[in-house]
Amino acid sequence: MQTGAAIEPRTSLTPSRLVPILVSVLLFGFGAFGFLIEAWGYGLLLIATVALFFGAGLFFIFILTRYFDTQSLKQTFVGLLRLGGWLYVLGVAALSGFFVDETLHGRMELNWILFGPTVLAAVIFLDLGVYRLLIKKNLPTWQRFGHLVSRDLSDPESMRRTLVDDVIMHRSLLSVSRFRWFKHTLIFWGFSLMFGAEILAVFVREAIPAFGMRDIWEELDHPIRRAFDFAYDFTGLMVLLGCVLALIWRVVVNGKPEQKYSDTPTALFLFFVVLSGFVLEGARISVAGADAMNLASFVGVVFSYGFSDGGDIASAIYQPLWYVHVFGSCAFIAYVPVKRLIHSCATPMGRLMNSQTDLLAAKKKASIRGLLIGKQTD
Ligand code: HEM
Repeated sequence: MQTGAAIEPRTSLTPSRLVPILVSVLLFGFGAFGFLIEAWGYGLLLIATVALFFGAGLFFIFILTRYFDTQSLKQTFVGLLRLGGWLYVLGVAALSGFFVDETLHGRMELNWILFGPTVLAAVIFLDLGVYRLLIKKNLPTWQRFGHLVSRDLSDPESMRRTLVDDVIMHRSLLSVSRFRWFKHTLIFWGFSLMFGAEILAVFVREAIPAFGMRDIWEELDHPIRRAFDFAYDFTGLMVLLGCVLALIWRVVVNGKPEQKYSDTPTALFLFFVVLSGFVLEGARISVAGADAMNLASFVGVVFSYGFSDGGDIASAIYQPLWYVHVFGSCAFIAYVPVKRLIHSCATPMGRLMNSQTDLLAAKKKASIRGLLIGKQTD
């Protein structure tokens, strides 16, 4: 059963694209003229997340097992991922319209007015960069050899092994050096878990109150709020330590062959973003008072001791530091496809593909056949 031929590049404005684009424009317009409450945007984003979650789950069942009929499984996960992607666009359009209306009516503070378009631009830049580097660049190969990619020829067991060993555990790096594995594991898991926590936090912090339910984010002693505070500080600390180790390692290997495995601009950038976050948190806790309620933010509490003047400096620097940290984080999102950090998406894809020896052999055969035919016709 072939799986590759059906996935073709779609560059034209087909009706299946035009309709959601028009609906997005309408939702934006309704929102901007005050006809939509924010629950619309968050509701669409919630359904999008569920669709993407199940679509990704079915995709993994597709590549990691032989369960279920290939064609129907493929149709279902492609449909769910497409639906999730478009619902995400609709949700962002509805929310953008709503926030435009809030801004025009003077209900938004300046920092949030500036934050909205900045984060949107950063995410669009990230999406376009990932598309350009991972999809557009590989399209010629896909168009030539995609028809050879079939679920029957694939080897799910070796795909599962590679997923666990190389993508989740990074065993090849461990076999090279325990230290390098440890520094990378701190950065990789710290960053990935923090990203997951932030997605959940958007729903707890923004969507639940938007649906008219109890706003537990404002209750600093609520166990869920404390769990988030702890998760942010714990994962942030992992990233910070990982970056410090990466920078120390960079100094140690300076001028040696291993230097080529370092990515110092990324390690520095990430270090700066996380450090500015902890200083900001320390300033906030210093102004509010480092009482028991903040103990879940254990790293922020330690940083708050750096402001020993009764909170005067902390109050003065809080707002400028907020801009530095928040816009620094947006810049980091946009930076992902610019330099070597794109390896976080490209390396797992490459390793999973390389685990498929039969598929690669079929591709090699087709290339050699193509070369021979080319020679004969010369
Ligand atoms: C499955 C996904 C990933 C794989 C397979 C992977 C693999 C690698 C490898 C093999 C290295 C070279 C490390 C060395 O030789 O010491 C590296 C470096 C690095 N990776 Fe990843 N990575 C992944 C995801 C990520 C993610 C999500 C981040 C988070 C931001 C990240 C951040 C970094 C950084 C900052 C470096 C440079 C470290 C240094 O300068 O010492 N990686 N990665």
